Amino acid sequence: VSPLKMIRKNCLDCDVKNKEVVFVQSFYKDVSDCIIEIILAAHTAMELGAKKTVLIAPYFPYMRQDKRFHRGEAISQRIIAELVDKYFDAVYIMDPHLHREKKLEHIFKIKSKKLTANNLIARYIKKNIRNPAIIGPDEESYKWARNVAEMLGAESRILMKKRYSSYHVKVTLNKKLDLKGKNTVIVDDIVSTGHTILETAKILRKLGAKAIYCICVHGIFANDALGKLRKTGIKVVSANTVPSKAAKIDVSGVIALEIKIF
Ligand code: R5P
Repeated sequence: VSPLKMIRKNCLDCDVKNKEVVFVQSFYKDVSDCIIEIILAAHTAMELGAKKTVLIAPYFPYMRQDKRFHRGEAISQRIIAELVDKYFDAVYIMDPHLHREKKLEHIFKIKSKKLTANNLIARYIKKNIRNPAIIGPDEESYKWARNVAEMLGAESRILMKKRYSSYHVKVTLNKKLDLKGKNTVIVDDIVSTGHTILETAKILRKLGAKAIYCICVHGIFANDALGKLRKTGIKVVSANTVPSKAAKIDVSGVIALEIKIF
């Protein structure tokens, strides 16, 4: 059931009585609207006798705010998880950003499962990029970058990053790396402002990279980040968990399989 359709028509247009109702919501653009929509939809399904409500989130927002970085900030990861707990029996999330909280089970009380696009990313690289060197732009990116590199049997390196604000990050190299003439592929879960990738690309260029690709799962691309990245010559591709012009890797098969075995 698409919650968006449901809220526009203000009704669930199928019979949900005694059914396990699976809602697919990719939270993007007006994220807060998306949250309200999904709650209205799930609550209505329950009122109309649904046996179970399940949330499938190709992209799930608010995961990066897992602590109070600055005084007075909301720890949104926890608050949104509490809402989901209240209205759903299970939640499936594609490549959630897990950092200080390592597992979805630590965040949600309901049944939760992590899905991943890593296989598809590895397949895309194998098909389209010759002899790649995989780069993770920060310590958290190893779950994508190293994992994908291992699947490909490619060399990989994880860099270090310090974030000062949304638009100010500093990426550094830990030890020597020679990338002369290489096709480098930065692999990460999210590209939002694009600054993590821009800063990483500067280092890769200095190290002699021949081409710089960026492949991510969730292409949020805030404030025309995609345009900014492409302007500098970075070739950007993402999964289609969030729609964009870069969304070339289709994750629907991974989700469909999950629903089938649910
Ligand atoms: C954070 O650790 C994530 O893995 C990404 O590196 C981050 O979300 C990218 O954000 P931005 O594009 O705004 O630098």
